[in-house]
Amino acid sequence: AGASERPVRVRESFAGRKAFILTAVGSAVGLGNIWRFPYITYENGGGAFMIPYLIALLTAGIPILLFDYAIGHTFRGSAPMAFKRLHPGAEIIGWFQVGISFLISIYYSAIIAWAACYTWFSFSQAWGDDPEGFFFGEYLQYDAGGTGDAGLSVDFVAQVGWPLIAVWVVLLIALAAGVRRGIAAVSVIGIPILFVMFAALVIYSLTLDGAVDGLDALFTPDWGALTDPQVWIQAYGQIFFSLSVGFGIMITYASYLKRKSNASGSGLVVGFANSSFELLAAIGVFAALGFLAAGTGSAVGDVVSSGLGLAFIAFPTIIAQAPASALVGVLFFGSLTLAGLTSQISILEVVMSAVKDKTGWSRGVVVAIVGGSSAVISIVLIGGVSGVTILDTVDAFSNNIGIVGGAFIAVLLVMWVFRKMDVLIAGLNTYGSFRIGPLWKVLTGVVLPIVLVVLLYQDISTKIT
Ligand code: PFF
Repeated sequence: AGASERPVRVRESFAGRKAFILTAVGSAVGLGNIWRFPYITYENGGGAFMIPYLIALLTAGIPILLFDYAIGHTFRGSAPMAFKRLHPGAEIIGWFQVGISFLISIYYSAIIAWAACYTWFSFSQAWGDDPEGFFFGEYLQYDAGGTGDAGLSVDFVAQVGWPLIAVWVVLLIALAAGVRRGIAAVSVIGIPILFVMFAALVIYSLTLDGAVDGLDALFTPDWGALTDPQVWIQAYGQIFFSLSVGFGIMITYASYLKRKSNASGSGLVVGFANSSFELLAAIGVFAALGFLAAGTGSAVGDVVSSGLGLAFIAFPTIIAQAPASALVGVLFFGSLTLAGLTSQISILEVVMSAVKDKTGWSRGVVVAIVGGSSAVISIVLIGGVSGVTILDTVDAFSNNIGIVGGAFIAVLLVMWVFRKMDVLIAGLNTYGSFRIGPLWKVLTGVVLPIVLVVLLYQDISTKIT
């Protein structure tokens, strides 16, 4: 009797390489690609930004993606367990990543719920002629009790509370269904749909009046930007967030790869697919912004925005003025919803798989207890009070200092303190399709820590001042 009788569970796995790649792409392609990259490119040299961006992808993005894959695939565990197997002192890094993931998951779900609602709103253009007043004033009830400028009234519980609950139900079902039938299935079906929808949106946007002006504003290179350190910092920062590296996601997913899998080759595919989507998004978004500017007779620079402003203020305005309004709305907000869902699933799985590995509980129990509590916290906090404030605060901390700091500690400890470079290289090379060697060592062991420390310094100093 005793612990030895506990049934040994075989670790769940992806059905194959295609499922793994689509699921990893599902995580990487998220809100960051659609509402952050286009703006960052515009602000940091336009066409010239492609140079630091590509360099950041090759010198830091792909190397740290392979670092995450090597840890997950070699040690076959959730972030804390994989780090613990690497070195007993490293488990804490994994728990730090789990904590950050948990925080992000609380508010990310709210954005998905808003995007889902706006998909629906696109049919009636519920925002009337004042999208800004509608979003902050009525939809999120920022001016409590007011009816906003548009004179419309939204039932908060019905419009924000229920959709958020619905999003959580979908998320928890996908997680409870397991790696193959839930997590991977959503991306295997959803990611091709997302790419088709988004491509249609881009093609459509390119036909709008003013599209060329938008692209002009986006891509006209400002070569002087290349000598500005800030531009390089932005390029590296975008790559880290966009690839979902450094917060346990890719470790967790790689731990579900079958042993004889080509992790390094898949890393290249994921990295390039993510950047291609990002570029496509920038083209679509700026073509649409060009149309917006043309309609209001202003310069493209005056209508450029990112984040919530782009999605919930600029796009509703574009949708209202565009031919085939409802279609554009469904394509844009539908894409945002799908891109968000597959990223959110990945981040929740970081938490679920960590607790599952630690406790030995079944997936169903972990999803019910841990997933259920994230859902409740999220719904009470975000659905109940003013979600945007919480979103901003948590976002500012977790997305910058949290992820970058966590990645820095992980890379430094693994490469320099525990000296596991060669173990990771051997892990990648056993079944990989190309040889990882000294170049990766230099990039991951030297270039990455330097880049991460600069980013961290930058984040902390801008947060403090
Ligand atoms: N790679 C994602 C993006 O670009 O949006 C980053 C991400 C954010 C992943 C939040 C997961 C997540 F929950």
